[in-house]
Amino acid sequence: MPCTVIVGAFWGDEGKGKIISYLALKDQLDFCVRTGSVNAAHTVWNEGKKYALHMIPAGFLYEKCRLLISAGANVHVGQFFKELELTQVDRSRVGIDQMASIIEEKHSEQDKASAVNKAIGTTNWGVGPAIEERVRRTAKLAKDIPELHAFLTDGIAEVNDGLDEGKKVLLEGTQGFMLSLFLSNGYPYVTGRDTGASAIASEAGVGPTRVDDVIIVYKSFITRVGGGPLPGEISKDEAIKRGWFETAAGTGRDRRSAPFDFDLAKKTAKINGATQAALTKLDCLFPKCNAVRRFEDLPVEAKAFIKDVEIRTNLPVTLIGTGPDALDIIDRR
Ligand code: IMP
Ligand code: MG
Repeated sequence: MPCTVIVGAFWGDEGKGKIISYLALKDQLDFCVRTGSVNAAHTVWNEGKKYALHMIPAGFLYEKCRLLISAGANVHVGQFFKELELTQVDRSRVGIDQMASIIEEKHSEQDKASAVNKAIGTTNWGVGPAIEERVRRTAKLAKDIPELHAFLTDGIAEVNDGLDEGKKVLLEGTQGFMLSLFLSNGYPYVTGRDTGASAIASEAGVGPTRVDDVIIVYKSFITRVGGGPLPGEISKDEAIKRGWFETAAGTGRDRRSAPFDFDLAKKTAKINGATQAALTKLDCLFPKCNAVRRFEDLPVEAKAFIKDVEIRTNLPVTLIGTGPDALDIIDRR
């Protein structure tokens, strides 16, 4: 704080939504800025209710937090209104940067019709085709959509003025570093944008020197949906046995899984310029950690795993997720 970037370390679904919702409540964030597009779902649990958010920033639980959708983002109008309804947030809290682009039904049709995208296993929301259109400079922007007029703002100015005033800003990355169009060695099994920390700041219109902290989010094991390599991948049966089997919050597809990869964690920490790490789902590796909220109460094997992560990545593990609720967290900051 005051300006923090949240970036996913692996192939997405590291639990960024949970970390963001916790930080919004705990640090009383002034701004939470969503980047990326509708393909990424952030899961937030609050008092037993689950929210899978594709558009509304995951900081919505803290009711004084201004919720912005960034200039670099890609807005799905129907999904946006659905989530306004779902979250019941006061509309005056929500701003969409006037320069954000629009993703339309035709983009989804184009995504589904592409043989290449089938092999990659895209989410079929049409994000790749929508971004193609933006690059061709024929895309619709948020300011072109009458239903969005009440929400339009200069999000870039809001955030930068907020930083000038010392406000607390969180820039919410989507997906994971290993899906980066530019920086992952997994091309073409990547998404249609750069998902790294610098790109998250860039999409929000925040210059690199204004960022104070980059929190990289690791899950205690690794998952991936769609095609492409996943080093150390285990079978679905084995994943079920270990309690690691998940389905995608957005598409409902099975997630593939693999054990935590220390070398990859180290590499992605460095490339994203991470200053701290969050480690989620520790209770899936060590069930005795479930809902523990004090570091001292963790079993020794869990503490040893955290120590290993810290030594190998050279980062302090400051936030540890021990259960689904936004507040199931050990905060060592
Ligand atoms: P696209 O982003 O829909 O074009 O899909 C490209 C690849 O990124 C596919 O392997 C998707 O499964 C993956 N992907 C896209 N968004 C997410 C996400 O939010 N979480 C995890 N994987 C994602
Ligand atoms: Mg997700």
